[in-house]
Formats: sequence, structure tokens, C-alpha cells
Amino acid sequence: MEVCRIHIVAFLVTLYLSCFCAAHGWGIDGHLITCRLAQTRLSKSAANAVSELLPAYADDDLASLCSWADRVKFRYHWSSPLHYIDTPDNLCTYQYNRDCKDEDGVQDRCVAGAINNYTNQLLTYGTTASQYNLTEALLFLSHFIGDIHQPLHVGFTSDRGGNTIDVHWYTRKSVLHHVWDDNIIETAEERFYDSNVDELINALDKNITTVWANQAKAWAACSNTACPDIYASEGIKAACEWAYKGVDEGSVLEGKFMHVLLIDAY
Ligand SMILES: *[C@@H]1O[C@H](CO)[C@@H](O)[C@H](O)[C@H]1NC(C)=O
Ligand SMILES: *[C@@H]1O[C@H](CO)[C@@H](O)[C@H](O)[C@H]1NC(C)=O
Ligand SMILES: *[C@@H]1O[C@H](CO)[C@@H](O)[C@H](O)[C@H]1NC(C)=O
Ligand SMILES: [Zn+2]
Repeated sequence: MEVCRIHIVAFLVTLYLSCFCAAHGWGIDGHLITCRLAQTRLSKSAANAVSELLPAYADDDLASLCSWADRVKFRYHWSSPLHYIDTPDNLCTYQYNRDCKDEDGVQDRCVAGAINNYTNQLLTYGTTASQYNLTEALLFLSHFIGDIHQPLHVGFTSDRGGNTIDVHWYTRKSVLHHVWDDNIIETAEERFYDSNVDELINALDKNITTVWANQAKAWAACSNTACPDIYASEGIKAACEWAYKGVDEGSVLEGKFMHVLLIDAY
């Protein structure tokens, strides 16, 4: 059996805020950036599988469908708990057995469980008639790898990963979770890249092969089929050290300068 490993590169965009907090973001552009960078790093066999699994209208562009999983949350209601992990308030740690469950306590129903699930499904690619829809598995996996790297997708239970914390992003009203999903990336694009996401992607791509080359190797290390527990642990740690730090209801957050960290590739 040909093992087709989908290498997904995920990025953490860190902005140092004026309150010395930093932020990361994975909204539509976050997912687009992650998938664009990942698709160019696929092995030959994985690239072929991705081409074959993408619907024709995607025109071989994985990034164009990396927000599909958000769009089907309502139609596939069962999939909505698969985008995040709720960890105990203020503990700043993650444990699969303790935390990877949905609100009804059903085990494995969290973003880490979903990454394992869809990676395992994709490993059946090329075997006789997979029982799964591997197009959906690919779109879910490439989306969830982005989500798990947004620190507030591995956040505290009672504030729903910063979703109940109202803040201001500069002068605009926002919600802490949304700051990290979208505001930081949008502002960085406007300020430094002429509102052109491709320019940001090119800058990241260049750094991965140069100044971050050594770190990128470590980010890519994974001795299991998939390594979501590593990313989730890094996520809640970053959430506590940066996203939640010094932030209260009504805080005004601002990006001072941008520092982008490549977190992992596998
Ligand atoms: C695994 O994938 C199947 C098919 O999409 C889905 O029905 C199931 O809920 C998924 N479970 C998890 C934990 O991701
Ligand atoms: C697989 O899922 C995609 C996206 O939901 C859908 O368009 C396609 O028809 C499905 N394929 C099969 C064979 O069910
Ligand atoms: C690329 O690396 C340089 C040097 O560390 C850094 O100043 C720059 O912000 C990085 N670019 C991005 C998009 O992260
Ligand atoms: Zn999501």
C-alpha cells in the first residue's frame, strides 16, 4: 500500500501587541495562507492524491477550499465541535483524554481527534474503494491543521476560547477570538503587504527556506501518524502566554509589529 502522507504546513502569525500581548490569526486568510504554503510542500505522491481528490472547480488549488469546513458547520452540524478544544479554565495545559471531547462528553470529538480521524481516513487512499469520502477528509484535515494552530482554538472552557471576551482592535469593536482569527492577519496585510495576501505568502515562503530553515525541520518532526497533541499543547501555552495575557473585557488591543513563527509541518 502506498502511504500517502499529507504534509500540511501550519503557521502561527504572532503580532506583539502594545500591551505586550501577541496574537495569531486563522480566519479565511489564515486558512488560505496555511494551505497555499502546504500544497507546494507536498511529496509527489501526496500532491497527486490532492489533485485527484479536489473537485474540478477548485482548479488544483487546495487553498481555495480550505474554509469549506467552516461553511458546512451548519449543514454538518455534527462537525462543529471538531474545530476546537476546550481546556480547563486557567490551567494552561492540554491532555487528550481529559480535554478531547464535545460538550456532551463524547470522547475524540475535538480538533485533535478530528485530525487523527481524517489523517487515518486519508491513509486508505489508493486502497480498494475507501468507505470514506476522501475529498471531505482532505478538506477537513487541511482546515483543522490551521484551526489547531490558532491558540484560542485550544482555549478555556468558560469563555469559549475567547469568544465571550469583548475587546477593541484599535478603535473597532471585536471579540478576542476574532482578533486572533482575523484582525491580526488583516491588519498585517494592510500595513505591510499592501493588502495583498500573496505578498504575505511569498514573504513567509521565503523565510521558511532561509531564516527559519532549521526550525522548520523541528516543526516537521512527527513520529506518529499525526501529531495534533503537540500542536494543541503549544496552542494552549501560547494562548496563556500571549492571547489571554493582560486581556480583560473591554481591553484595547493593537498590533505593534509582526513576527511570524512557523510552528510545524508534518
Ligand atoms: C470522523 O469522520 C467521520 C466522517 O466524516 C465523521 O462522521 C466522524 O464524526 C468523525 N469523527 C471525528 C472525531 O472526527
Ligand atoms: C464527497 O464530498 C463532496 C463534498 O461534500 C461532494 O461534493 C461529493 O459528491 C462527495 N462524493 C461522493 C462520492 O459522495
Ligand atoms: C521573515 O524573517 C525576517 C527576519 O527574521 C523578519 O523580520 C520578517 O518579519 C519575517 N517575515 C515574515 C512574513 O514573517
Ligand atoms: Zn474552523
